[in-house]
Amino acid sequence: MSPHMESSAISKPLINLLRGWPNPSLLSVQLFDKATHRVLTNKANAIPGMLYGPDEGDARLRKGVASWLTSFYSASKPITEDRIAVSGGASQAIANILQVYTDPIYTRNVWLVSPSYMLVFRIFEDSGFAHKLRAVPSEDDEGIDIDFLRAQIRMSEEKAIQDGITEPHLKPQRPWAKVYKHIIYAVPTFSNPTSKTMTLQKREDLVRLAREYDALIICDDVYDFLQWPSSLHATNLSRDKAALPRIVDVDRYLDGGTKRPGADGFGNSLSNGSFSKISGPGLRTGWVEGTENFAYGVAQTGSSRSGGAPSHLTATFVAETLESGELQRYVYETLQPTYGRRYQKMVGAINKELIPLGVELPQTERDVVGGYFIWLTLPHPLKGSLVTKRAEEENLIVAPGQIFEVPGDNADIHFERDLRLCFAWEEEDKLVEGIERLASCIRRLQSEGGGEPLSPAAEAEMHKRLVGVRS
Ligand SMILES: Cc1ncc(COP(=O)(O)O)c(C=O)c1O
Repeated sequence: MSPHMESSAISKPLINLLRGWPNPSLLSVQLFDKATHRVLTNKANAIPGMLYGPDEGDARLRKGVASWLTSFYSASKPITEDRIAVSGGASQAIANILQVYTDPIYTRNVWLVSPSYMLVFRIFEDSGFAHKLRAVPSEDDEGIDIDFLRAQIRMSEEKAIQDGITEPHLKPQRPWAKVYKHIIYAVPTFSNPTSKTMTLQKREDLVRLAREYDALIICDDVYDFLQWPSSLHATNLSRDKAALPRIVDVDRYLDGGTKRPGADGFGNSLSNGSFSKISGPGLRTGWVEGTENFAYGVAQTGSSRSGGAPSHLTATFVAETLESGELQRYVYETLQPTYGRRYQKMVGAINKELIPLGVELPQTERDVVGGYFIWLTLPHPLKGSLVTKRAEEENLIVAPGQIFEVPGDNADIHFERDLRLCFAWEEEDKLVEGIERLASCIRRLQSEGGGEPLSPAAEAEMHKRLVGVRS
């Protein structure tokens, strides 16, 4: 037994603030009980649902998503279903997009706003980008360091020219697709892991930069609908309207939009949407929104041409919940208030227990907050890995900042002093106790002057274990 482990800790119930899943009580089981019955007892929907579906995905779902997005983002021009391709969820969609729109030799780099969602790394690696992942800092309160990214992209372009990489090597020319020179990955709203939201100015700057360098911005917009006021007393914030346009919306209107003279019609951004966080991850259903050309190209990926869009039958169930308006009501009337309450409990406990110890939170001045996570920066000299280790001894699981560092990148962008906490998974009545346990670990480490650092091997083993890597 570790000298730090108290015998009482072993009997404490587990509190898991790492897992980024919805609590089981928040899965829309009843909605789907009714929707599946309605679909399967109506031959007009059941039979096409059980057959191969269209490459672009279920028509009713595309229409339902397009109409919800038009209203939620207050789009100046309606978002039509031609802009939507149904996906098997956000993760699967990225894999498809990389198949169609990248070439691991010609596409110079994947630039990830960092810290980044840790499970996205392998999706890029599987598509041949293991040695081309690069971190872009998001430390300031605006969500991305554009000047850093511009300088790095310029250098990457110079290198590609020196290396004589002037055209795609592995992908044939196809009329429905193109190959982008750069990929930029971001979670611009209520980010995983930092919960930060990128400002409108940065969204515009990023679109301009992407156009200049033929980059595709992949935005995981999977938390946008989960929003609430930062203060319990705010009254004037809308539940059913987003506070900011997405990057894909900015691309549509900025400086003449995606149809401006000289543009190729594919656009420089996409919105990767998902029903995982607003309905249930087991649905494995989502959507990609981009220009009409872009969405068509996604639907032309070989596996969709052969089998139709992924998750087809499930898509027909989701379509039913959207057409009846039940899913939208579920998000606004159940999920937003429940997640909002969970968030307030956790932030309340952080303010009481952790801020006095010197812990810091990002973007504290926001009116609207949301998503699943809270990012904490520990006071010097504490390290996230050691706090995580001590927390395990208290039967508390948290995520150290280092697991969100871009692998293989030698840029000096590290998150050794940070932790990510999730308020979505654990039972609501354990959230405050989780923070209290964390506070007692931090206090003890502070009394030891920061504690004995973990060896690099112990640190690596713990990180692998936390991200679920078998070796
Ligand atoms: C930023 C981000 N992208 C993608 C996903 C996974 O989405 P999906 O279940 O739709 O594949 C998650 C889930 O945690 C996420 O946080």
